[in-house]
Amino acid sequence: MADRVVAASDHAGLQLRAGAVEAARAKGFEVEDLGPHAADSVDYPDYAAAVAEAVAGGRARLGLLVCGTGIGMSMAANKVPGVRAAVCRSEFEARMARAHNDANVLCLGERVTGLGLGAAIVEAFLATPFEGGRHARRVDKLNALDRR
Ligand code: RB5
Repeated sequence: MADRVVAASDHAGLQLRAGAVEAARAKGFEVEDLGPHAADSVDYPDYAAAVAEAVAGGRARLGLLVCGTGIGMSMAANKVPGVRAAVCRSEFEARMARAHNDANVLCLGERVTGLGLGAAIVEAFLATPFEGGRHARRVDKLNALDRR
């Protein structure tokens, strides 16, 4: 079965989300695209919650969220227990977010990151496994913060 990814954006992230979805599908991932599918203004916490809950609930292994900056999406997604969302502006950050932080949601900003770089960041995020080892202890501590 294909590895499953869930994606969404707000109105400020439509184009970059389309590119992210295409990049993930081209790498063999099964992508559930939660929209929105029109340019009307929407509220990013609603879409962040939908993706975060799909990842936390196990419907998808990884999530992709795009807004204007990536910041609002990451703030909202990180409120859902079990989600480790990271805003990434570079392929290096995307690799580190997966390898060291076991990030399970990638947040991008369409007003910050161009389409070509955005696709490369998505590919780096999806291709990088969590390293485990000493990082597992730290991620466990991160997850414990959900229960405070
Ligand atoms: C929408 O104008 C913008 O505020 C939103 O996309 C995002 O950048 C918030 O963090």
